[in-house]
Amino acid sequence: MRIRTLIACTLILVALPAAAEEKGSDTKGKYYFKKSCKSCHADGGAAKALTPLSKTQAQWKKFFEGGKHKGDALSPKFGPPAQILDIKTFLVNHASDSPQPETCGG
Ligand code: HEC
Repeated sequence: MRIRTLIACTLILVALPAAAEEKGSDTKGKYYFKKSCKSCHADGGAAKALTPLSKTQAQWKKFFEGGKHKGDALSPKFGPPAQILDIKTFLVNHASDSPQPETCGG
């Protein structure tokens, strides 16, 4: 059972770059999201829990295109622009209305 889930998730990750709409790295974005955002945006954290499923693709794009987080610039606060783009890519690609909603843990 777990092995099948693992295989399914791996296949999705391998298949993704072809389907990806954003230009950043989905895989790196997942890592940076955990590192730069989940420290606060998790159950028991300083802010409400967020996963890619928390918003639609349009909502995530709007957030990143605004470039602001609580009034502060997203970059460099949360990393250089390339890392912010990776996080955006990951969140948009796995948003609630995306073709690949996040199902492999956030
Ligand atoms: C130092 C803690 C902290 C970190 C790190 C952090 N946030 Fe936040 N964030 C907050 C707080 C506090 C709020 C406002 C209260 C709330 O929404 O829970 C907020 C609000 C938000 C909101 C608006 C809430 C909503 O539902 O629209 C979004 C989106 C968001 N953050 C995304 C991010 C992303 C993406 C990252 C990583 C790049 C990040 N945050 C990193 C603390 C943090």
